[in-house]
Amino acid sequence: MTVDSHADAPAVAAALASRVLDAVARRPSLVLGLPTGRTPKLLYAELRRRSAGGAADWSAVRTFNLDEFVGLISGEEGSYRDYMERELFSAVGIPPAHAGFLNGGAPDLDAECDRYERAIAEAGGMDLLILGIGANGHVGFNEPADALHARTHRASLAAATRASNAYLFGGDAQRVPAEALSMGMATILRARAIVLLATGPEKRAAVTAMVRGPIRTSLPASFLQLHPDVTVMVDRAASPE
Ligand code: GLP
Repeated sequence: MTVDSHADAPAVAAALASRVLDAVARRPSLVLGLPTGRTPKLLYAELRRRSAGGAADWSAVRTFNLDEFVGLISGEEGSYRDYMERELFSAVGIPPAHAGFLNGGAPDLDAECDRYERAIAEAGGMDLLILGIGANGHVGFNEPADALHARTHRASLAAATRASNAYLFGGDAQRVPAEALSMGMATILRARAIVLLATGPEKRAAVTAMVRGPIRTSLPASFLQLHPDVTVMVDRAASPE
């Protein structure tokens, strides 16, 4: 794991935007894995700004989002699809057919998880997967537990995770779905390169344990230590102690 520390959150976003845009320029058909959350909003703003007026060509890029809530119709308010359309896709012009999402409103959720695994494989796998991290060490919706899932699966959300997603539902944690679909740990670890983005003091303990601690299912992000190409991009406040 390489730790890449910057002065503040805008500097982290600027550095990661440069890496993403360089990768798109080198490989126009890049396959990107993408996170939601508050943390990547500055990155998406930076990508919108630097792609304005056709400055970057996203027309052949393919994306796969990490996770999605169960029970919402795809694209409905509060869904991660809705978030991505607003924060990035509509502005940079990613064709809807190139944007991969889990559909949390699918009638057969197990079949939906299988479809997603196949879709990622058929796209040739993810070239670059960007991750956030929960203060409890979750990645995607792989929550701390006695055992973790390898593949894309249905997940129950921890109370703290629902609370931290309340901003998508008018601040009301009760309205945050109790379940989600998420890429699994092996789905994540198969990406060719991974960048984990963490900013702010509330992430410091999880980042420190992820980088320095043992690998344990009670801190799912620690499994990233098994991957040969992980960059942990942090601001000063989230830098590991
Ligand atoms: C959600 C997402 C995660 C994300 C995490 C952190 O639970 N499922 O993928 O990393 O929140 O979010 P934030 O950036 O808002 O702290």
